[in-house]
Amino acid sequence: MSSGDSASGQSERRRVVRAGRLRGEIDLPSDKSIAHRALLFNAMAAGSAEVTLRRPGADVLSTIRVLRDLGAVAGKEASDGLVTVTVRGGGTHDAARLSGGGGERLDCANSGTTMRLLCGALAGRAGKATESHDPEATVLVGDGSLSSRPMERVAAPLRAMGADVATTDGHAPVRILGRRPLRGMHHHLPVASAQVVGAITLAALAAEGTTTIDTPAETRDHTERLLAWLGAGVSRDGKRTIIEGPAGMQARPLVVPGDISSAAAWLVAATLHPDAELRLPVVSLNPTRVAIVEVLQEMGADIEVVDHAGTSDSPEPVGGLIVRTAATLRPISLGGHRVAALIDELPLIAVAMAAASGVSELRGAGELRVKESDRIAQVVRNLAAMDVDVEELTDGWRIVGGRSARPVPLSVGTGGDHRVGMAFSIAALAGISGPATIDDPSCIDVSYPGFWEDLEAASGTTMAAATR
Ligand code: S3P
Repeated sequence: MSSGDSASGQSERRRVVRAGRLRGEIDLPSDKSIAHRALLFNAMAAGSAEVTLRRPGADVLSTIRVLRDLGAVAGKEASDGLVTVTVRGGGTHDAARLSGGGGERLDCANSGTTMRLLCGALAGRAGKATESHDPEATVLVGDGSLSSRPMERVAAPLRAMGADVATTDGHAPVRILGRRPLRGMHHHLPVASAQVVGAITLAALAAEGTTTIDTPAETRDHTERLLAWLGAGVSRDGKRTIIEGPAGMQARPLVVPGDISSAAAWLVAATLHPDAELRLPVVSLNPTRVAIVEVLQEMGADIEVVDHAGTSDSPEPVGGLIVRTAATLRPISLGGHRVAALIDELPLIAVAMAAASGVSELRGAGELRVKESDRIAQVVRNLAAMDVDVEELTDGWRIVGGRSARPVPLSVGTGGDHRVGMAFSIAALAGISGPATIDDPSCIDVSYPGFWEDLEAASGTTMAAATR
């Protein structure tokens, strides 16, 4: 990567300056949420299938690596920015790959979705006990950031279904001993988390009877769409997921469309920049993910949705987006059910709030404090360094935006968090802040490898590595 050495967790700093203009077409990386699921669910299905991904980020590569360790990856080929992974399930529904084994140590690195979905997938697999050996536990480990994130929110509901899942003081490493059958039951979740819903749903595939999961707000529904498409008895009705267990799936190939959470960077950049038009031709437009488009439009953004491609061979709706400079930008108040639908885009929305004339507010977003970093603290700290009038709230922030203060040079601390790194690079690119030095630009590779190349291409400007 031109952005430096990400394996060390640190990389050469980058200096981002305001673009003269923004133009062009951007081929986004494949949607991270859909990619994890397409890989894992095919590995739990009968047969084998190719999953085709554009520029998979480090998180998706973690899922591929873990599936390889579980013996479920039959091949991986790369050409023209596309990676095709052949995932192999079992020969029959019951003999899917993840049904065997035990005793593995699986490294999920920075990827919460990998770890949490695996908890559910492995909880219900048949352990390989022999007369002389008890089945062995599988251990899920992660990096420093992932090891500080809450895991009991997944482990506790799985245990209630009869699973043998143990956390380490509520965190990773997580130890799982596969058991069958699990018990179908009703869950009422305190947090609206698609990762938790996904984990329970995967365990429910190995459970006797019906499982229902209620969440306080609607979450992204990729798990339900994809499992139903593969033939499992899984459905979503608003805030409720319903699984009829036990259920098997048949593997199916999927080309994973562009990630709307990555698209959000360009939607905000072009909206805020005074001379911009960007085209994003292939984006996942799942209704549970498009709130970012709606919110920016409410703020005054000029975003056109085009080419609603047919969806016959995919469970996910796909389309294109064109975004142009906004004439004016209005402040907005966000909270309640909208937060879950915007959760990954909130750092970028904070940058838009800083540019909008008036008082914007975010409430009910305490979940941001347990993401890859404490995103409320990181966003507020970096906005304050931009001289923005911002107040930190326990569950969000209040921003008085639109002041035409002289932009000050900014030193951005990402906290190793890809979403923070992208948000404040975009602030500088659009001229909302002064030139920004990003402390760890390669952290963005987690979800968006090639971000720096796309940023340079769209702006026609080389963003030099900063000297330390
Ligand atoms: C994801 C769900 C969200 C989101 C994450 C991906 C998923 O997390 O923040 O980036 O793919 O299910 P939560 O489930 O913790 O809200």
